[in-house]
Amino acid sequence: MKIAVIGANGQLGTDCCEVFAGKHEVVPLTHADIEIADVDSVKKVFEAMKPDAVVCTAAAHNVPKCESEPDVAFRINGIGSLNLAKVSNDLGYKLVQYSTDYVFDGKKMKPYVETDAVFPQSVYAVTKYAGEQLIMNYCTKFYVVRVSGIYGKVPSRAKNHTNFVVNMVNAAKSKPEVRVVNDEVLTPTPTYEIAKSTLSLLETEAYDLYHMTCEGEVSWYEFAKTIFETLNLTTPLYSASVKDFPSVVKRPFYSVLENYNLKKLGLNSLPHWKEALVAFLKENYR
Ligand SMILES: NC(=O)c1ccc[n+]([C@@H]2O[C@H](COP(=O)([O-])OP(=O)(O)OC[C@H]3O[C@@H](n4cnc5c(N)ncnc54)[C@H](OP(=O)(O)O)[C@@H]3O)[C@@H](O)[C@H]2O)c1
Repeated sequence: MKIAVIGANGQLGTDCCEVFAGKHEVVPLTHADIEIADVDSVKKVFEAMKPDAVVCTAAAHNVPKCESEPDVAFRINGIGSLNLAKVSNDLGYKLVQYSTDYVFDGKKMKPYVETDAVFPQSVYAVTKYAGEQLIMNYCTKFYVVRVSGIYGKVPSRAKNHTNFVVNMVNAAKSKPEVRVVNDEVLTPTPTYEIAKSTLSLLETEAYDLYHMTCEGEVSWYEFAKTIFETLNLTTPLYSASVKDFPSVVKRPFYSVLENYNLKKLGLNSLPHWKEALVAFLKENYR
């Protein structure tokens, strides 16, 4: 397959390019090469390239910024998805778009499956949900993939070149003590694992909505504790509550995703979050 990766220099895009290149022809696209919010840009790039598949990792996903710039967030996450979907239908490429665990409000307190009702709580989450719906309604060859708490060796561009692991390592180096919330629970997942699972999906014709996270669940505090222990960071680490960090953004207290549709296809090969995290830290921080 000829696979175009949008956001190729981003956190997830970097791993997608590397993983796909082992088996397929990859065309990496940065923001300088394509503007997904502009349908003419999308048409021009893909009419010339004729890809078999397009994997979009681009998004407006600096969550507080989405609250203050809702029009930008909707243009990229909503209209951008619609553009990729419509051009997919014209040109016939398979389309992967990533979405988020934040489409849920967290009240279920049990892992969410793909058929659970959503209740997005923030501008970011609403615009990502709009993107999901536009793709599923305007495109036939789609894989909409919800991920959660992602981290990779190239940190997130939209989040000022950080991710949770980078933030914890920096905080441990620069602060006398570190406090992390213990009342938000999720399943963090490294981008390398998402790239591998995306590839196995792309090699099927199973067009659908997917949850794609590691196994198990953890609070941000317990996640931080594993980072501190694995990297022997000795700065005192304390658990805190979301209430200690007032924010303009509402986030779900519980957003664990069950990879139900991947399991149904026999394609769920994602490891437990702790195993994946320790492997990531050993590979990238030692
Ligand atoms: N971070 C999380 O924990 C998390 C959780 C759930 C879901 N997700 C989703 O995961 C996906 C990937 O996140 P990531 O951390 O890999 O992102 P990232 O590092 O910020 O990379 C995004 C890439 O897309 C490019 N881009 C942004 N806007 C664009 C546009 N309008 N047109 C074309 N390219 C554009 C960026 O280029 P520039 O930087 O040059 O603009 C960058 O190369 C996103 O869909 C996000 O919503 C993330």
